[in-house]
Amino acid sequence: MFYFDNAATSWPKPATVINEAVNCIVKHGANPNRSGHTMAHEAGQKILNTRKRLCFLFNTDDPFEYIFTHNTTYALNFAIKGVLKSGMHAIATSLEHNSVLRPLFTLKDQGVSVDIVNCDRQGMISPKQFEAAIKSNTRLVVITHCSNVLGTIQPIEELCQIAHKHSALVLIDAAQSAGCIPLDIKNTDADMVAMPAHKSLYGLQGNGVLYVKKGTPITPLIQGGTGSESKILTQPDIMPDMLEAGTQNFPGIAALGEAIRFIQSVGINKIRNHEVALAKYFRDGLSKIDSVKTYGRSDIETSSGIVTFNIDNKDPSTVESILDKKYSIAVRSGLHCAPLAHMSIGTYETGAVRFSFGYYNDEKQIEYAIRAIREIASGK
Ligand code: ALA
Repeated sequence: MFYFDNAATSWPKPATVINEAVNCIVKHGANPNRSGHTMAHEAGQKILNTRKRLCFLFNTDDPFEYIFTHNTTYALNFAIKGVLKSGMHAIATSLEHNSVLRPLFTLKDQGVSVDIVNCDRQGMISPKQFEAAIKSNTRLVVITHCSNVLGTIQPIEELCQIAHKHSALVLIDAAQSAGCIPLDIKNTDADMVAMPAHKSLYGLQGNGVLYVKKGTPITPLIQGGTGSESKILTQPDIMPDMLEAGTQNFPGIAALGEAIRFIQSVGINKIRNHEVALAKYFRDGLSKIDSVKTYGRSDIETSSGIVTFNIDNKDPSTVESILDKKYSIAVRSGLHCAPLAHMSIGTYETGAVRFSFGYYNDEKQIEYAIRAIREIASGK
């Protein structure tokens, strides 16, 4: 299998990550932070270690500003629905995934108004247009750091500054950037950041993370047991308990700690440079095939390891299927759950084929993929 679907989930996973998950089931399988026995305490320590590693990777100070969720969608829903109330206005970009668009548009029924700022044809948001969309009641702006369709990286520092100038909170969707594009949360000054464990952080599926800056006014959507303040019949208001009701995915969270250790041992800049170089190699190869049209950008500052394209007169899902069945190449075609991004680049009707590279891909694999695409394009 030639795996180029790392934007959906990274594969393979580092052995240390898998070993830690198994280890937590076999050797430390207690419920963290509930009972007082040694094994439960050890499990709690492992969860705390993962929070500390998140602080280190994203340059923040307080481990309890990170809460664990089932996935990025839950993290985004917690943030969006925990902040927005009737009468408030929210802004999102046309690059957002349905995990942002659907909660926002659902809130319209509850009196929240929403505006979308469109990206340009290459997939970039203009700070000027973004500022022009802000209103006096804008409470929240949601910005994807890196588009899952085009791989374009947005100027989040500048957009954060603009939003804060107008007293709006900022939620960054780091689904495609956490682990492969440096993100300094303190310097960016984002109020909330949502991310998955299982993509470029090389953790497991079923784990997401929401960073919530201390003091951010957020209401919990889920109430339940926390192992703390048990006499109180409402949700404790201390972090992270306020936003972490119920038993957690302990093996996944501990594995995320190992995954961050893996990222740090390789170096995030090395991972980023590797993926961007592979994307450039792939784009250069595709540029020699006349009937192939690529989307997005290729400059080092604003592009990532995602390359999306179409072949003239070929249905993208058919291309995906031929790549899979004939060449054992795994990619994702269609709208990638981001319909407005495809609308912005003119591929809403057809969708497109997406290759997304990861740390474990290499140039030889890409040469094979380019040969396969050349054959498909020539009708062989
Ligand atoms: N959001 C993931 C993707 O882009 C699943 O494929």
